[in-house]
Amino acid sequence: MQENVLLIGGGGREHAIARALRDSEADLYACAGNRNPGIGRIATEFETLETTDPEAVVEFADAVDATIAVVGPEAPLEAGVADALEDAGVYAFGPKEADARIETDKAFQRRFMAEHDIPGCPDFETFDDTHAACEFVDEYDGDLAIKPAGLTGGKGVKVIGDQVTAEEGKAYIRDSDYDRIVLEERLIGEEFTIQAFVANGEFETAPAVQDHKRAYEGDEGPNTGGMGSYSDATSELPFMTAEDYDEAVSIIEATVDALEDYRGILYGQFMLTAEGPKVVEFNARFGDPEAMNTLPVLETDFLDVLVAARDGEGPPELEFADQATVCKYAVPEGYPTDPEAGAKVTVDEESAGDALLYYASVDERDDGIYTTTSRSFAVVGLADSITDAEEIAEDALAVAGEEGLHVRHDIGKPDLVQRRIDHVEELRGN
Ligand code: AMP
Ligand code: GLY
Repeated sequence: MQENVLLIGGGGREHAIARALRDSEADLYACAGNRNPGIGRIATEFETLETTDPEAVVEFADAVDATIAVVGPEAPLEAGVADALEDAGVYAFGPKEADARIETDKAFQRRFMAEHDIPGCPDFETFDDTHAACEFVDEYDGDLAIKPAGLTGGKGVKVIGDQVTAEEGKAYIRDSDYDRIVLEERLIGEEFTIQAFVANGEFETAPAVQDHKRAYEGDEGPNTGGMGSYSDATSELPFMTAEDYDEAVSIIEATVDALEDYRGILYGQFMLTAEGPKVVEFNARFGDPEAMNTLPVLETDFLDVLVAARDGEGPPELEFADQATVCKYAVPEGYPTDPEAGAKVTVDEESAGDALLYYASVDERDDGIYTTTSRSFAVVGLADSITDAEEIAEDALAVAGEEGLHVRHDIGKPDLVQRRIDHVEELRGN
């Protein structure tokens, strides 16, 4: 059967999804709020539309006779785009609005973990009253992470003892107009991501990835959507053991079991602490940038995953190439606090060399490609080791051009990876 796959979203993650489907036997149609030049080149048709408007997405799905849809970002999931597509008879590989709450409502997510006895849940309390939240900060014995319950693009969390003092944390709670807040035990350790492909109660996991949330080198500056990421040629990362990976997968398993009808990607963000992996959060989609580490090494046809899910089966056993990957984002100057949108970017795609180049939240207009307020493009190096993959990514940045853009050059470099290893060894008392 001829499959027409509709891809929703126009970032680097969606460019990676588009490329994963490029060589499969499907026709790809895409829609996003921005015209992503990379996706535009792969897709048979690209429509610019508001992806949080379920009616607009369904209308386009109908127009192109979509048989399967893949929802990239969280905002359309929260807006019920998967539900609307299902109602219109188009299978959506992405959870319905109610299941996407595992990401879109952090208070729901923590309560869900507690109710279902899912391991790896930090101590937490939820508040809809800022006064009570501030009192809790005063009374709590230890540092807390302050989390707005709703979506903030990864930029709303403030960690006491790391980014802010307790007083600054309380001022943040009082001054921000978040109506619901989660306060939870500050987790100390190294973060890693495991993405699971979930369908019909079964799942398959991808190799672990480590993202870099902070805007500046040396993990300084504000939190961002993610500045870059790396994965190793094995399932685990250099600072983890295979047992750590398996323990995190068992947390994912308990979550998939509890969610019942979940379909799509379940993204587990873990902190490897002295007591083992704990859950920082779940997302209801591929990570961005993590999709750009994972999909290039996926040797199984991603279309086979989508078709199996649609046809009521679990995902096929996934094969991943034994290769390390390093992804580095180029972002507008001032990102994320005061990003300079509307700057023209010149990307020399042909010169990316051995690296892969992914366009993100740029907008292609008649006279060129322009920045938006979010991340612009990413390069990904693939090699036998993280060090070699990092060099490929750096070489590509040098020629692709990053004028007027900011990059965290330290991502994937031996020094930073060693710091992660030393950190975990120190926590484990070795
Ligand atoms: P989130 O939006 O939940 O991904 O949080 C953004 C970032 O805040 C995470 O990647 C962590 O670096 C940090 N964070 C979130 N929750 C905690 C926690 N309980 N302890 C320490 N850091 C946290
Ligand atoms: N890399 C973080 C995220 O996708 O939320």
